[in-house]
Amino acid sequence: MDVNEAIYGRRSVREYTSEAVDEQTIRRLIDAAVHAPSATNAQPWTFTVVRDQGLLDRVSEAAKTHLLADPAGWLSDRQRTRLADPAYHIFHHAPVLILISGTAPAPWVVENCALAAENLMLAAHGVGLGTCWIGYSQGYLNTPEGKDALGLPAEWVPVAPIIVGYPNAVPAPVARREPEVRWVG
Ligand SMILES: Cc1cc2nc3c(=O)[nH]c(=O)nc-3n(C[C@H](O)[C@H](O)[C@H](O)COP(=O)(O)O)c2cc1C
Repeated sequence: MDVNEAIYGRRSVREYTSEAVDEQTIRRLIDAAVHAPSATNAQPWTFTVVRDQGLLDRVSEAAKTHLLADPAGWLSDRQRTRLADPAYHIFHHAPVLILISGTAPAPWVVENCALAAENLMLAAHGVGLGTCWIGYSQGYLNTPEGKDALGLPAEWVPVAPIIVGYPNAVPAPVARREPEVRWVG
């Protein structure tokens, strides 16, 4: 797929079929992810692949509870209502979650993992898969309980939880605002 088609065609997908994503395909997505640039070529990322639907259900519930406690006070009323709905599944019932974590707190760990995540999402789109970054899970996954739930070492830094699956519906493009651009010189 042409790079522009990938960039402009990718969408955050929130409805998936129950079709499994095979291991070879998941490995190809991870290979695309690790071809992202990283500061000093440190490649400080790890990939946790979760296909256990029961575990994803439990993490979804725990993450909702964690978010609704809202220690930072940033939830809108709309978000609060959605998260309080028992039917709302933060992973949108996707068959796979790929969590990209940094191997330890370090400078640029978030930037490195986020670049890997975008590569993974574009590569997935290129082979007909949908993806969505699930920021709602990040706070919980960064707690000792969240790391425990996925068996992550305590020093890892969960950055990019990306759900992956075959789209049931392709969402309409989401409008972009005109970017503010300042030309200097
Ligand atoms: C850091 C980050 C966190 C996000 N968290 C969520 C989330 O928790 N749940 C969700 O459904 N979408 C989430 N999204 C997807 C955004 O809502 C989506 O990227 C945005 O609406 C633009 O749509 P598009 O990706 O189809 O272009 C997240 C995206 C990013 C980059």
